[in-house]
Amino acid sequence: MKQAVVEASAPGKVILCGEHAVVYGRPALALPLSELRARARLERLVAGSGLRVVAPDVEEQFRMRNAPEGHPLAASVQGTLAYLEAPEPDALLTVRSDLPIAAGLGSGAAVSVAVARAVAAACEESLPPEILSALAFEVEKLYHGTPSGIDNTVVAFEQPVFFVRGQEPAPFAIKETFQLVIADSGLPSSTRESVLGVRARWLDEPMRYEAFFDAIGAITEEARTALAEGDLETVGRLLDANHALLVELGVSLPQLDSLVDLARRSGALGAKLTGGGGGGNVVALVPPAQLETVSAALARESARVWAITIRPQE
Ligand code: PMV
Repeated sequence: MKQAVVEASAPGKVILCGEHAVVYGRPALALPLSELRARARLERLVAGSGLRVVAPDVEEQFRMRNAPEGHPLAASVQGTLAYLEAPEPDALLTVRSDLPIAAGLGSGAAVSVAVARAVAAACEESLPPEILSALAFEVEKLYHGTPSGIDNTVVAFEQPVFFVRGQEPAPFAIKETFQLVIADSGLPSSTRESVLGVRARWLDEPMRYEAFFDAIGAITEEARTALAEGDLETVGRLLDANHALLVELGVSLPQLDSLVDLARRSGALGAKLTGGGGGGNVVALVPPAQLETVSAALARESARVWAITIRPQE
C-alpha cells in the first residue's frame, strides 16, 4: 500500500416496490440513499503487520489471518484481493456505517462495496460498478443464500434501478422531486428468515403465491410509469397496495402495519414496509407540506426517522 490512508464509501438503498417478488423474477424499483453511507478507511501499518479489521459500530475486530469463517467483512476483503490478484496489505481497515444493520436498507451491500472500493484504492485500482456489484453479490449470498441481486446493484451503481433478476439493471426516470420518510421500527429484520419463510409458503401454495408475485410485479410496472409521469398520488396508492400484498406474503408485523397506518393518517400519500420485512423499516411517500407532520408522528413511534429527497436525474 503506497498511500498512508485511503477512504471509500457506498450508499444504502431503499426498495420502493417489488421486494420478495423480485426473488421470483418479477421487477422491483430501488433507490440509492446517498446521504446514508457505509465508509471504509485503510491506514497503512508497518510491513509484516497484515490486515487488521475493526468495525466499531458492531464492536468487532479481528486479524484477517484468523478471520471468523464466512465473516462478511473478511469475505469482501478476500473477494476483492482475489479479483485484483493482490496480496493482503499491511493495514488497519476501519468500517463504519450510518445505516441501521439488518433493517432492509442495504447496510450489508453498502459495507461490501465500500470495503471493495477501499481495498482496490489501496492497490491503486478503481473498480467499475459491475465488478463492485458482482463482488458484493458473493457476500450477499452469505447473508441470505438466494439474493435477487437488487441490493448490490443499486448500491454499486448508486442510481435508481428498475431491477429484474438476471437482467442488466435499467435506470428509471423520475419526473418530479419527491420526499420519502423512512422510519426504523428498531426491530431486527432477518432477510434470510423472511425470504425462507416466503419460500416455504410458496412451496405450500404455489398458485396463490405466484398470483401475489404477479400483482406486486404489476404494481412495480405501474409505479415506474407513474414516477416517469410525475404522478405521485398514484405512486402513493401503489405503495399502499404493495404493502397490502406484503402483508399477504406474511412478511409484515403489527408494529410495521401501525407505522404504515400512522404515516398515512398523518398525511403520507402512501406507505409500506421496505426490504425483507419481519422488522426493519417502513417508507412513506410524503407531500412537501406534510413532511414535518409525518416525520414527527413517525419519530414518536419508531427508533429513528430519515427524511430523504429524491430528485430527477440530470
Ligand atoms: O436485504 P433487504 O432486507 O433489503 O431485502 C432485500 C429484498 C428481498 O427481495 C426481500 C430479497 C432479495 O434478495 O431481493
